[in-house]
Amino acid sequence: MITAIKNVIVTAIQVLWVWLEGLWAIVCLIGIGLGALVGKGGPKVALGAAFAKVSTQLTVMKVLRAFIPNLSLKLKIMNAYENTGTAIITRYNDCVDVLNRNEDFEVVYGSRMRKLTAGENFFLGMQPSWDYTRDTSAMRLAMRRTDVEQFVEARAAKLAAEIVSGSNGKIDLPAQLVQQIPWDMTNQYFGAGGNSKDMIDWTTVLFWYLFEDLPADPEVEAKAMDYAAKLRNYLDEAVADRKKNPTDAADVLNRCLALQSSDTPGMEDLGIRNNLIGILIGAIPTISKSCCLVMDELLRRPDALATAHAAAVRGDDDLVAQHCWEALRFNPHNPVIYRRANKDCVVAEATLRRQKIRKGQMVFAANMSACFDRYEIDKPNEFRTDRPWNNYMIWGYGMHNCFGDAINAKIIPAIMKSLLAQKNLRRAAGDAGQIDTGGTPHPQHFHLEFDA
Ligand code: HEM
Repeated sequence: MITAIKNVIVTAIQVLWVWLEGLWAIVCLIGIGLGALVGKGGPKVALGAAFAKVSTQLTVMKVLRAFIPNLSLKLKIMNAYENTGTAIITRYNDCVDVLNRNEDFEVVYGSRMRKLTAGENFFLGMQPSWDYTRDTSAMRLAMRRTDVEQFVEARAAKLAAEIVSGSNGKIDLPAQLVQQIPWDMTNQYFGAGGNSKDMIDWTTVLFWYLFEDLPADPEVEAKAMDYAAKLRNYLDEAVADRKKNPTDAADVLNRCLALQSSDTPGMEDLGIRNNLIGILIGAIPTISKSCCLVMDELLRRPDALATAHAAAVRGDDDLVAQHCWEALRFNPHNPVIYRRANKDCVVAEATLRRQKIRKGQMVFAANMSACFDRYEIDKPNEFRTDRPWNNYMIWGYGMHNCFGDAINAKIIPAIMKSLLAQKNLRRAAGDAGQIDTGGTPHPQHFHLEFDA
């Protein structure tokens, strides 16, 4: 009985706290709106710029979590994939629920994936099925967990240290470091890196087309079709060439060819090529953008930067990693993961936040918001480096959770450590020291300096 009363009181305080936070967030949003009225370039431009900021998006999410945790709209936000409206899911448990309910909430990427492969789907675009099991099983045999320690982590750390020490205290983070290292991984470990500039450009545009082209921009589509054809040609040649000139490298391409020799389903030449397309697109733009976002966030937080620096100098890899994940919680690579409702259904059944979702609605599981849900995350607004991993939803959840998760967990800290260990790490002066995406959703330039 006493426990029940205690629980009621604790819950009431928590609810009140969330409401107060929500009310304060409304006040902040009104302030942002008023500021935009007199902002540079006129209200529309200033408002657009304000809402592009993660801090503003987090404020909006606070309001939603407090008052409309599951929002259903007729409005279509996404044009790249067919849908009949939008639902926004903001609480941790509801996001997990949506991402676990594959039967109700389907992945949508198949139509664009097929355009990139000129035929077949890739497993991220597949619902639970034999094709999904076949492809993920084969690719998991080709890319083993143990490879991360053996082939990926140490090489990335060594290369990062060389690049940083050769940079004389001035570095353009994406161009010189964090695009190069994942590319090197695709070259050495996947065995299919090609020309670095081409591969970085192709995969960046193809990632944009698949996941970030919400308005369905015809220019993005045209560029994606061109680059996809080039990537297919390159991979067809790489597979044929490796068969003609075998090597004994322990790389993913050779492992796929070994599986082909043993008649493994899905590992015919076309299957290998299509799986490599998906994995290449997943690998380069994501790791490079995440590293830039980590650095950007730490540079905004002098205390966190100082503890990250100390951890890097001491060689405390786990603590460097914790700084990275916490920075990505505040500055995430992908703030939402989207699915489409397969049928009329309900989210948060038997709760006050119950919401009907209509068949065809695009459902945004806002993982960014979930990681700030006070009901699940302890002191969510604090930057802390002692959080358990389940506080994070940085690269997805459920069946489609990132295939490269074990790589990400090691390669990002391995890259960042070399830089974080430098003295007086800082942004370059002026705009150069801010992330420049060069008209894409991915950082192209971000100049940093340190005492060489
Ligand atoms: C920090 C870097 C990365 C981030 C932020 C990231 C993010 C994500 C997210 C959010 C998903 C789930 C998408 C969804 O459910 O709709 C995902 C899935 C996936 N990622 Fe990553 N990713 C990263 C690195 C990588 C790497 C290095 C690879 C390749 C080795 C990769 C390959 C994939 C694949 C193949 C899937 C689909 C998994 C499936 O359908 O079972 N990603 N990633």
